[in-house]
Amino acid sequence: MFDRALLLTLVLLSCEAQNGPLFSIVDSKRRLVNDKTKLPIVQQVPQVSRDLSLDLKDMKLPTFISDNDRVELTDQIISEFNAGLDNEDITFSMSDLVKKYGYPIEKHQVITKDRYNLSMYRIPNNGSAVFLMHGLLGSSDDFAVAGPESGLAYLLSDDGYDVWMGNSRGNKHSRQHLDLDPSQSAFWDFSWHEIGCYDLPAMIDYVLQATKTSKLKYIGHSQGTTSFFVMASQRPEYNSKISLMVSLAPVAFLTHVKSPILRLLAPGNPFFYSITQSLGVNEVLPDNSASRVLRRLLCGVGALAKTICSNIVFLFLGLDFGQLNVTNLPVLYSHIPSGASVKQFVHYGQGVVSGDFKQFDYGDITNLDLYGSNVQPLYNLQNVTAPVSMFYSEADWFTDPRDLNKLYKRLGNVIDLYKVPYEQFSHLDFLIAKDFKTLIYLRLRKLLRHA
Ligand SMILES: *[C@@H]1O[C@H](CO)[C@@H](O)[C@H](O)[C@H]1NC(C)=O
Ligand SMILES: *[C@@H]1O[C@H](CO)[C@@H](O)[C@H](O)[C@H]1NC(C)=O
Ligand SMILES: *[C@@H]1O[C@H](CO)[C@@H](O)[C@H](O)[C@H]1NC(C)=O
Ligand SMILES: *[C@@H]1O[C@H](CO)[C@@H](O)[C@H](O)[C@H]1NC(C)=O
Repeated sequence: MFDRALLLTLVLLSCEAQNGPLFSIVDSKRRLVNDKTKLPIVQQVPQVSRDLSLDLKDMKLPTFISDNDRVELTDQIISEFNAGLDNEDITFSMSDLVKKYGYPIEKHQVITKDRYNLSMYRIPNNGSAVFLMHGLLGSSDDFAVAGPESGLAYLLSDDGYDVWMGNSRGNKHSRQHLDLDPSQSAFWDFSWHEIGCYDLPAMIDYVLQATKTSKLKYIGHSQGTTSFFVMASQRPEYNSKISLMVSLAPVAFLTHVKSPILRLLAPGNPFFYSITQSLGVNEVLPDNSASRVLRRLLCGVGALAKTICSNIVFLFLGLDFGQLNVTNLPVLYSHIPSGASVKQFVHYGQGVVSGDFKQFDYGDITNLDLYGSNVQPLYNLQNVTAPVSMFYSEADWFTDPRDLNKLYKRLGNVIDLYKVPYEQFSHLDFLIAKDFKTLIYLRLRKLLRHA
């Protein structure tokens, strides 16, 4: 395992230095630190002195599959994948996809207090309102992309719910601002803190007003839960607007996160600058040197690398072949990833180091300015009073059960804690598992009925 980690770091460094002669590690580090001045977001982030080389050494870099020992499986995956390439859904937008499967769809625009123009999608129905919020690099599409048999948006609609799907600032449906343009850095100066403080309140108020009700049910996946916890602790008046919060793979504490990209993003890690830079300057780009390097490490260079591992979301969040609908992968790839700011990743990276659920760390001086203290404040989870239910899995790269347990203990109002009864269930399976209906929806449905 150590060798893999070492290889990874070397390859990452060589990405930095790809046009020049081979650098020694020390030289490369110096160069990276100098380069950071060109990166506005990295510039704001202090270098933490803690030595993370040990973490890197101990980091068990997960592997998806090795081409050598699973030849039959590889052949099967490739042929299923190829069978899916003709699917017309690949070319369909979110609206067209939903319409194709016979559901009505509406698009709504919401302006946040800080002037982002967000799009929401709705599959209207007579039942009570359920608001769905996607994770990092995701969008409203995440809840439809699995198709009508397994997609959460369809299952909820079949049960009569009025389904609303949010889109956070910066994703492909929400790239508008009344004064700023995505080509400007200022547009991307946000993390999930702002999504929780501005986007969620604006979208929730809009749904409540449109449906003339005072409460809705909230279902979040991954960062859709992080941003919820931010909102419910920073703007506690929103708790009374939520009759139930369902968290699918909740994320707040990150000490034990397995995702290699996130671990390498931890500030203080010598590879931090290299990674942030290769993710893109402000915006996380779907194809970049970080994802190319990880693809090679996790998947090798065989045919699988071109199919399964061609998507940064899998590289970032892990995957599980048992629950993966390979035939549907081409459709998935045409909708995911959906865009995010580098600052969202960096804010998570800070949590890996600090072990706390805290606001963004801008360094002593800016922190003092912004927060009135050198240290950034914790999110006060005691202010989360809405009833919360939690779905988690042992194998999740992002939501480790130990971190989840810490969150569980800090929240005062957890009404249900459910471990998915499937060992290898991955972070993305909470959206796209083949057995979503039995493994997730059965339980979810009961919870919603009683909310
Ligand atoms: C928000 O974006 C939508 C879709 O592009 C556009 O039609 C609408 O005019 C925008 N709203 C404002 C206030 O600019
Ligand atoms: C909603 O209720 C109305 C009146 O009861 C009914 O006509 C309509 O078909 C219902 N719509 C759906 C989508 O169930
Ligand atoms: C959160 O709760 C604490 C008490 O636990 C309170 O002092 C604080 O003002 C609350 N935060 C907000 C934003 O209301
Ligand atoms: C798997 O994907 C195919 C192709 O998109 C789809 O027709 C099928 O319903 C999916 N299976 C499940 C269990 O969702």
